[in-house]
Amino acid sequence: MSLPKKLLIRQAQIIQPNGELMIGDVLTDAGKIVEVASNIAHDTAIQEIDAQGLTLLPGVIDPQVHFREPGLEHKEDLFTASCACAKGGVTSFLEMPNTRPLTINQSALNDKLERASHKSLVNYGFFIGATPENLPDLLLAEPTPGIKIFMGSMHGQLLVGEETLLEQIFAQGSRLIAVHAEDQQRINQRRLEFAGIEDPAIHSEIQDPQAALLATQLALKLSKKYQRRLHILHLSTALEADLLRKEKPSWVTAEVTPQHLLLNTSAYQQVGSLAQMNPPLRSLHDNEVLWQALRDGVIDFIATDHAPHTLAEKAQPYPNTPSGMPGVETSLPLMLTAAMEGKCTVAQVVHWMSKAVAVAYGIPNKGEITPGYDADLVLVDLNTYRPVLREELLTKCGWSPFEGWNLTGWPVTTIVGGEVVFDKGRVNTEVRGQALTFN
Ligand code: DOR
Repeated sequence: MSLPKKLLIRQAQIIQPNGELMIGDVLTDAGKIVEVASNIAHDTAIQEIDAQGLTLLPGVIDPQVHFREPGLEHKEDLFTASCACAKGGVTSFLEMPNTRPLTINQSALNDKLERASHKSLVNYGFFIGATPENLPDLLLAEPTPGIKIFMGSMHGQLLVGEETLLEQIFAQGSRLIAVHAEDQQRINQRRLEFAGIEDPAIHSEIQDPQAALLATQLALKLSKKYQRRLHILHLSTALEADLLRKEKPSWVTAEVTPQHLLLNTSAYQQVGSLAQMNPPLRSLHDNEVLWQALRDGVIDFIATDHAPHTLAEKAQPYPNTPSGMPGVETSLPLMLTAAMEGKCTVAQVVHWMSKAVAVAYGIPNKGEITPGYDADLVLVDLNTYRPVLREELLTKCGWSPFEGWNLTGWPVTTIVGGEVVFDKGRVNTEVRGQALTFN
C-alpha cells in the first residue's frame, strides 16, 4: 500500500500547546506537522480528513504498559496491543521488562526492538529491568527510557527490594530509575496473616497503603541522597501523595493510573478479580486525594499499567489469580469523560497524557500540535457517549474492568507519523511505528 505523504486535517477543534482551543487545519508531511492555521489552502493531491465537530489532541504517550511479548503471548502480543493502542489514541508506549526472557540486558532489549519494528502499529520504547546483579547492563543499555525496579510485587530475578542492592543502583549512573514501590517484606508478612482467604478483595488489605508508603519513602530517600532522577510508577495512596506534596525534589516525577483515580475497593463486588492489580485499588478517599494531587502537579502524568491476563487466569481462586488489568483502549475516553464531568479540563488531560510524559522521559518532538513536531495525533468525539463493550475490545485478553461504563471522547481517527492507523472503528494494520529516542 502506498501511503500519503501529506495529510490535511480540516476544521478540527485543536488543543494548542497553551491549552487554548482553536478551530482550524493541520497539515502534515513526511511524518511531521508542518502547518497549523485557521484555513490551509486546499491541494487535490493531499489526503484530507473532515474533522468538523471533532477535537484534535496530540497522541497519547502511555509510559507504563506490559505487552507480554516475548514469552507470554497467550495474554497479549505487540501486534494486538498496538492495535488496541491505535483504537485508544495511544500513539507511543513505554513497555516493562517482565516478559520471558526478562528484558535485563542489551540482547533482550534488541530483540524487543526488532519485534516491535515488525509488529507495532505505534511508536515504542522498552525499559531495562534491574536485577541484583545486572548493573553493567543498566548503565549501558540503549535506547531505553530508563531502569525499571520492582521493589515489590514481583518474584525471581526482577525483585530488588533490599536497601543495599537498591543503593548500588541509585549510586551509579544517571539515567532515570522508575520504581514499582511496594515493600515486599511487609507483603510477605501480611500474606501469611491473611492466608486461606479466597475473596480477591483481601488483596487490597494484604498489599496495604503502608506497604506502598514504605517503599516510596525508601526510593525517595535514595533519590535524594544521590540526586538521582526518580520516577514513581502508579502512585496509589493518599499517604504517598501527601508525602510527595511535602517533599518532592525537582528531579522526581510520579504517575497515576486511570483505575487508581476512578476505581476503588468497591470494584471487587462488581468485577471480582478483574479489579485485582498491583499496587491494589484503594478507597474512595484515596481516589479523591490522588485527583487533587494530579490537579496540583504533585503527580505529573497518567499511565495505564496495561497488564492483560486471560479470563481463565482471572477465574482462579485468590491468591492464584494474577494481578493486572488492560487499559490502553479506555484510558483517553475515561480521562476525557472525567474532564466533561468537571474533574479537570481537556487541556489538563492532554498535558498529563502527552506533553508531561514527553518532557519527563526526554522524548523529543512529541506531545504538542506545533509545526516541527511529529504527526502523532488523535481526533476524538466529545459529543457522543458510548459504552465500553467487551466485543469491541482489541486487546487479546478480551475484557476490561470498565465494561458498561458510558464514555465520551472516544478516538475517531488516530494518526501515527502522519499515517492514519485507526479510523472510524477500523485499524490500518499496515502502519508501523518507530523506536522512540530519549534525551
Ligand atoms: O498488576 C500488575 N500487573 N502490576 C504490575 O506492576 C505488573 C503487572 C503484570 O505484569 O501483570
